[in-house]
Amino acid sequence: MESKQNAKIRIEQLRNQINEHNYYYYVLSEPKISDYEYDMMVNELLKLEKDFPEFFDESSPSVRIGDDRNQQFEEAEHKFTMLSLGNTYSKEDFMEFDQRIKKVLGNDYDYVCELKFDGASISLTYQNGKLIRAVTRGDGTKGDVVTENVKTIKSIPLILRKDDYPELFEIRGEIFMPHSAFDKQNNIRRQEGKPEFANPRNAAAGSLKLLNSAEVARRKLDCYLYYLATDKLPTDSHFDNLLLCKKWGFKISDKTIKTNNINSVFEYLEYWENQRDKLEYDIDGVVIKIDSVKQQKMLGETAKTPRWAIAYKFKAQRAKTKLLSVDFQVGRTGAITPVANLEPVKLAGTTVRRSTLHNADYIKSLDLYYGDYVFVEKAGEIIPQVVGIDKESRDTNAEKVIFPEFCPECGTKLVRNESEANYFCPNENGCNPQIKGKIEHFISRKAMNIVAGEATVDLLFNQGLIKNSADLYDLKFEDIVKLERFAKKSAENLIDSIKKSVNTPFEKVLYALGIRNVGESIAKLLVRHFKNIDNLANATIDELTEINDVGEKIAISIKNFFSDPPNIEILKRLKEKGLQFETIVNEQVINKLNGKSFVVTGNFGTPERRKELENMVEKFGGKLVSSVSAKTDYIVAGDKAGSSKLKKAEEFKIPVINEQDFLKMIE
Ligand code: IVH
Repeated sequence: MESKQNAKIRIEQLRNQINEHNYYYYVLSEPKISDYEYDMMVNELLKLEKDFPEFFDESSPSVRIGDDRNQQFEEAEHKFTMLSLGNTYSKEDFMEFDQRIKKVLGNDYDYVCELKFDGASISLTYQNGKLIRAVTRGDGTKGDVVTENVKTIKSIPLILRKDDYPELFEIRGEIFMPHSAFDKQNNIRRQEGKPEFANPRNAAAGSLKLLNSAEVARRKLDCYLYYLATDKLPTDSHFDNLLLCKKWGFKISDKTIKTNNINSVFEYLEYWENQRDKLEYDIDGVVIKIDSVKQQKMLGETAKTPRWAIAYKFKAQRAKTKLLSVDFQVGRTGAITPVANLEPVKLAGTTVRRSTLHNADYIKSLDLYYGDYVFVEKAGEIIPQVVGIDKESRDTNAEKVIFPEFCPECGTKLVRNESEANYFCPNENGCNPQIKGKIEHFISRKAMNIVAGEATVDLLFNQGLIKNSADLYDLKFEDIVKLERFAKKSAENLIDSIKKSVNTPFEKVLYALGIRNVGESIAKLLVRHFKNIDNLANATIDELTEINDVGEKIAISIKNFFSDPPNIEILKRLKEKGLQFETIVNEQVINKLNGKSFVVTGNFGTPERRKELENMVEKFGGKLVSSVSAKTDYIVAGDKAGSSKLKKAEEFKIPVINEQDFLKMIE
C-alpha cells in the first residue's frame, strides 16, 4: 500500500484530472483522452479512496458512481421561486407578447432565444464553488432534495473551475435523458420484463426520484443550465451571465442566440421546429427571454410566470398511415398488449412501423377497423401514439378490430379483473411467453443475475432444455456447448454464473420468483418480516396485510402463488439446489424485541424519525404492523397518535409507550 502522504497527493491529482476531463467530455463534448484511460484513472481513484477513507470528500468525482443504499428525500424551500413559463403556439401569439414588451420598454431591448429542453427542471445551489444542494421544482416554492442523485450526472460540476463566481448562487436547468441512453434503458427494461418508459422526459423525471443513486448513475442523465439566480448577478445581460456560467464549468447550450430583430426570432423558431429531430435529446419548443436583467425587473412577473419570457411550443408532429394488422402480444405476466402494425411512415425523423394500442378500452374508444387510415402523433415523445382515425376513408366492408377472448399463444380464455385495464391469460404455467418471461425475469440482473439474455432463454426453451427456473440448475456443460451460438468459453460462463447464483440473498431470490405484484421493495419487506420462505408461505392474508405497504392485492397474489402446485414443486427443487430461502440475521440483535408486534403511530418530530423507529422495530427483531388488533403487543405513540388506534389499545389492554420507552427496550 502507498504511504499516506503519497496517497493524499495522488488522490488530489486524480480528482483534479478527472474533473478536468469530465468538463472536456461532458460539457464541451471534446474529449482529450480515451474512455479506457479515463476509466483507469477513475478506478485508481476509487481504490485509493477505499484504502484511505480518511481522505473522503463529498465533492470528489468518485461520488458520481452513486451509492446503493436507499435514501429518502427531504423537502427544501427555493430561495427564489421556480417560475414556470407562459406558452404560445403561433407567431400571432408571439407578436402580441412582443407588443406587451414594447409598451413597457419602448424599442430598445434584446431577445435571447434558447431551446426548450424537455426534461425535469432542477435548481442547483453552489457555495464557495461547491455544489451543496440540488432540489426539484416541486410546487415552485419547495421541492425534493435530490443532491445525491444529481451528483451522478457527469456534466454537472461538483467543483467550479474559475473563481470569479458569486459566493452563493442558484442555477437552474433541465435534467434530461439523451436518446441513446433512453434506447438503452428501454432495451434493458424489455429484457427484464419491465414496462418501458413512454418518453425520455418521464424517464428523466422518474430517474431523478429513484432511491438508489447507483441506479441513477447507470441511467446516464445529462443537464443543460439556463438561468442564474442570485442576489447580485455578475452582469446585466442574461446571455453574458450564461457565458460566464460556461467558464465556471456548466453545460450551457451553444444553440442559444441573442438578437434585437423579431425576424431572427421567427427564423430561430422555424429552424428548430424543422431540425429538432437531429438533436440527441428532446425539445418541445423554444424559449424567448428579454436579455437585460434590469429590463426583466421592469417587466416583473405574475404569480406563476415571468412577463419577460415566453415559451413557443411546437405543435405535436402527426402523420397519416394505414393500419395493416394488430398483434395481441402476451407479456411475462400474461397481460395482453395490442400493437398496431402500420404501413411505414416518416414522422419527426424516424420511420414508424408499430404503435401500441394500450388495451381493449383504447381500441374501443378509437372505434378501430382493419385497413383504417390512422393518425399517429409524437408530442415530444419517442413512442408514437395512434391518436385518431380518418373515418371518411374507411372501406365499407372493413372489419372491426375485436379484442380476442382467448389467448393467442395458448388458447386459454382471457380474464380481466375489475379495476384493471388489461386482459390476462391465466395459464401462467402453460403459456410459452409467460414461461419464458418468468425465466427471463428470474435470471435478470436485479434478481439472480445470471449472465444470459432473452435470446439464450429462447434457445434453451426451444431446445426443450428448460421449462422453468429450476431446470436451469440441471443444465450441463455438454448440453449447452453443442448448441449453436455457444462455444466452450460461453458455455462455461453460463454454467459458472448459474452456479454462483446459488448464493444470491433471499430477498433477491424472492423477487426472482416473479410473484405477481411483488417487486424489489415488497420482496425486501417480506423477507425482513417473515425471515424465511416457510413463514411467508404459511402466512394468512391478515398476517400479510399487517405489514405496512402490503395491501390486499399483494397478499392475494402471494397466497395464490404458494397454493399453486407447480410453484411448490419448483420451490422444492430450488431449495434442493441450495438457493437461499432465509435471511442471515444477527441472533443477538433479534432477541431484543423477541418477535413482539408493534404499531407506530403519530408524529415524532419528522416523518423520517417515524420511519427510523419503524425500521428499528424490524431491525431489533420485532414485527411492524399497521393496524391494532388483539395480537398487537405494543403501541409506540407520538404526538397526535391515531385516536381509533388508542381506543383499540384501551379495548385490548395493549400498553401504549412513547419514543423514550421504546428506545429503552432496544438499548
Ligand atoms: S426559463 C424564470 N429556459 O420549461 C425562468 N425554462 O414550461 C423560467 N425549460 O419550468 C424557466 N428549457 O423546466 C427556461 N431554456 C429554458 C428551458 C426551460 C426548458 C422548462 C423549465 C420550465 C418549463 C416551463
